[in-house]
Amino acid sequence: MDTLSIKVNALEANESFLRSAVGAYASRMNPTLETVSDIKTAVSEAVTNAIVHGYACDPKGIITVNCEIDDGLLTIEVQDAGRGIPDVEEAMRDFFTTKANEERSGLGFTIMKSFMDKLEVYSEPGEGTLVKMEKKLYA
Ligand SMILES: Nc1ncnc2c1ncn2[C@@H]1O[C@H](COP(=O)(O)OP(=O)(O)OP(=O)(O)O)[C@@H](O)[C@H]1O
Ligand SMILES: [Mg+2]
Repeated sequence: MDTLSIKVNALEANESFLRSAVGAYASRMNPTLETVSDIKTAVSEAVTNAIVHGYACDPKGIITVNCEIDDGLLTIEVQDAGRGIPDVEEAMRDFFTTKANEERSGLGFTIMKSFMDKLEVYSEPGEGTLVKMEKKLYA
């Protein structure tokens, strides 16, 4: 068993905190710098989405990050109890964004998918969103 569980408020400062925390957690297994960088980027995208879309930047919102390393495979779950996504398939399309007027490019999920080995998104409007990602820590 090797797990990590963190709960934080949806504050912008926690985006870099969670990015670094998960990066440090993965680094203990001595993956390449590129692997750590990919993981940190994906976490950053998922956490930013929880803050910006899930909670509309309301810091009362809680973001939960659960990680596990099992046999060299890192699993990361980023969960919010925010607004939720009405159509997950549509939200995951390249360039799809509901905040085009705020200089969002709609590439967060695309980045998570390409930088990680696996991406799953579960969401219900009004219930929140769970982003589950996997990354092999060794080639
Ligand atoms: N945690 C979430 N809660 C509610 N809606 C979300 C969440 N994550 C993503 N979404 C929805 O999915 C859309 C696509 O997300 P994605 O990260 O791909 O793009 P973006 O955040 O709009 O832009 P970018 O990530 O490029 O800044 C968002 O515009 C938003 O409508
Ligand atoms: Mg995004």
